[in-house]
Amino acid sequence: MARFIINGGEKLKGTIEICGAKNAVLKLLPAAILCGGPVIIQNVPRIEDVNRMIELMQNLGASVATDDMATNRILRIDTRRMHSSSMSNDIAKRLRSSIVLVGPLLARFGSATFPHPGGCVIGQRPIDLFLDGFRALGATVQEHVHEQYPVYHIDGKRMRGAEYTFKNISVTGTECLMMTATLIKGKTILRNCAMEPEIAALAEFLHSCGARIHGAGTHTIEINGVKKLRGGTCTVIPDRIDAGSFAILAAATKSALTIKNAVPEHIATVLETLRSMGVTVDINGNSIIIRPPRVLRACSIKTHEYPGFPTDLQAPFAVLATQAKGIGLIHETVYEGRLFYIESLNRMGAKIIMCDPHRVLVQGATPLHGREVESPDLRAGLAFVIAALAAHGTSVIDDIYSIDRGYEDIAGRLQALGADITRSS
Ligand code: EPU
Repeated sequence: MARFIINGGEKLKGTIEICGAKNAVLKLLPAAILCGGPVIIQNVPRIEDVNRMIELMQNLGASVATDDMATNRILRIDTRRMHSSSMSNDIAKRLRSSIVLVGPLLARFGSATFPHPGGCVIGQRPIDLFLDGFRALGATVQEHVHEQYPVYHIDGKRMRGAEYTFKNISVTGTECLMMTATLIKGKTILRNCAMEPEIAALAEFLHSCGARIHGAGTHTIEINGVKKLRGGTCTVIPDRIDAGSFAILAAATKSALTIKNAVPEHIATVLETLRSMGVTVDINGNSIIIRPPRVLRACSIKTHEYPGFPTDLQAPFAVLATQAKGIGLIHETVYEGRLFYIESLNRMGAKIIMCDPHRVLVQGATPLHGREVESPDLRAGLAFVIAALAAHGTSVIDDIYSIDRGYEDIAGRLQALGADITRSS
């Protein structure tokens, strides 16, 4: 199992470039299933979740050329010879975004079979909103158990445009149903949709291929089904969670850093939060310049769907809160299992009290000390990297595959900023 060894306590310095967004490319890849011609995706991040999505699509018969990935970050996808809409794959069970494939598969083949999707263990991750949405479009859903695991078969041959209101806001749910509706007959209106920038980016690409989608990026999306889509080219938008993670890292390690190739308005709430803690945040086009104060002030946050404070930055923020003077409340409203990493932070010297599964109080500022910890999920794993860099002494972070799932070459990028981090197998 791979691990990071980090000697912390030093300030970092320099410029870091933001990669393409994980949660954008993981939807652009399935979108290629809707297209009747080749699709080129540029600015693809080199992360494990992308590799798993490619494997899943190849298993379904898609051709995904990766020869231009290492040098140019380009993927070429051709799904014209795809033959199967059945995902009986182990990978699908471990990748939450495998559920996103179901929408395009249904639209293209009229049926889909898939196991319940897994992903990071951060609380219950049901798929009721997807299934209800498919039913609203006229599909029938059958569930059975295969080798003690839930498997779904959806028959969507009679799907028609319809109206559907999400009873809870879901990012992948919005993306999945939006994609299904592009190729089915009639008009679909989706209400109470998520508004994340990745959704608007996906709609923009589909639009360029001939889809008729209006309102993506707002709570109501209207889709007029078309007979077919052509292929096209798209560029993955910068990863706002990558950008926010490095902004928080800079503040937590008292380092002046420049974050390049970001879209600052995508993390406006995060930058405003940092400012309220005393951090100087300057914006220069697509660059964000972070200059931490001598003493950080505590601040409370409540995670929320976009444009609120992203749940994916909640754990990194908790590390920052340990370095701020005063008491801050962290209220996680999206997931019920995303605060359990605090025990490890407390072992590193933090003073964090759990009030209930959704809320913790952080008392700062406390010095952190190097410890051995295990990365429990992608975002908490990155939070441990930040904690280890802010801590005095040596930390070991085990099981870093979960970090590799969503952050490109974290060790190399941090070394370039002067961090003492090495990867060992
Ligand atoms: N939910 C339901 N029923 C559903 C679907 C979701 O109740 O059918 C609930 C979830 O349990 C959760 C809430 O709705 O409490 C929000 O979940 P959502 O569906 O929005 O999450 P997601 O679409 O599965 C995406 C990102 C997550 C990110 C969330 C929130 C992808 C592949 N994943 O997940 O990213 O945390 O939106 O912004 O886009 C990550 O990158 O580390 C990550 C977990």
